[in-house]
Amino acid sequence: MNIMKNLKNFLIKNSLIYYNNNGNNLLFKNIFPKIPPLYKLFYSEELDNEEFNELVSHIYYKKTWKTTLYKRNLLTDELILKTIKSKKVNLLEVGASTGVSSLYLFYRLRKHLLTFYLTDYLFNVKIVKVKNSFFFYDTKGKSFIVANKHWTFLLDKKSFFPVFFLAKRYFRMKGKKYQKRYIDSGRDVVLLDRRILKLVEESDKIRIEQWDTSEPWNHEQLDIIKVANVLNLVYLKKKEIINIVNNLKLILKDDGLLFITENREKENLSVFQKNNNKLILRDRLNKGAEIEEFIEGI
Ligand SMILES: C[S@@+](CC[C@H](N)C(=O)[O-])C[C@H]1O[C@@H](n2cnc3c(N)ncnc32)[C@H](O)[C@@H]1O
Repeated sequence: MNIMKNLKNFLIKNSLIYYNNNGNNLLFKNIFPKIPPLYKLFYSEELDNEEFNELVSHIYYKKTWKTTLYKRNLLTDELILKTIKSKKVNLLEVGASTGVSSLYLFYRLRKHLLTFYLTDYLFNVKIVKVKNSFFFYDTKGKSFIVANKHWTFLLDKKSFFPVFFLAKRYFRMKGKKYQKRYIDSGRDVVLLDRRILKLVEESDKIRIEQWDTSEPWNHEQLDIIKVANVLNLVYLKKKEIINIVNNLKLILKDDGLLFITENREKENLSVFQKNNNKLILRDRLNKGAEIEEFIEGI
């Protein structure tokens, strides 16, 4: 069982990802998700919420997909609500993607919130259109996607197949060439669900921060941290996960709770509490998070 799982993880991690925009990739059709036409994000104002979330879900940046869905972490959200009861809390969500998976939690929590920090290391992109191709840049000017009407290259995804490896190298080079244009003529696209942006305008309780877990946290300590579908052994090494959890522990109040969720066939959740500077397992739903065993006691 473990061998099969490791093999699947290896294939996902190392295989080519070249998709045509009919949603088929050229190999391993059944293993990989389908990629819709990401270039449409250049015209994001024309997209409805569902299409927008679907497109963003197929962005691959640094080491993870931005996959997300409304009410995706419902069991986790319900347990957070149950745990809080009538206390006033501040809460941090790490790796929120478009924020749509937190909408429900925010609506239900509103009365009990001091602050809800929605964070992710990629909320803002610049897209440069060059002839018929669209180059996506992060805020540091690194290109990570090239797309047009017919195909999409995810440049952060490794390819061992020579054709795609070389193609990606070529597009990375082109990306560097057009980097200057990104400053002058790149279109800013915010990768947040419109309903979240509206909530931010209406309420000062919800705050958006483009934050990488490896950076220092410049706000108050937190009562609750929710991390759903981020700390994943497919993409991160055990050591990297431990480092991230150590950083999160630092910004959690003593007695604060850390919810780690993995949506697989079922929603698996492990809940830890910070106690005397150690993370103690307090609760589990379904199988619990895959990383549970090496988080306990950190
Ligand atoms: C698979 S999505 C999960 C989105 C949402 N939590 C959900 O469950 O639907 C993972 C998100 O985590 C973000 N992410 C991954 N590693 C991160 C890190 N070290 N710091 C901040 N964000 C990170 C990615 O950009 C991506 O948006």
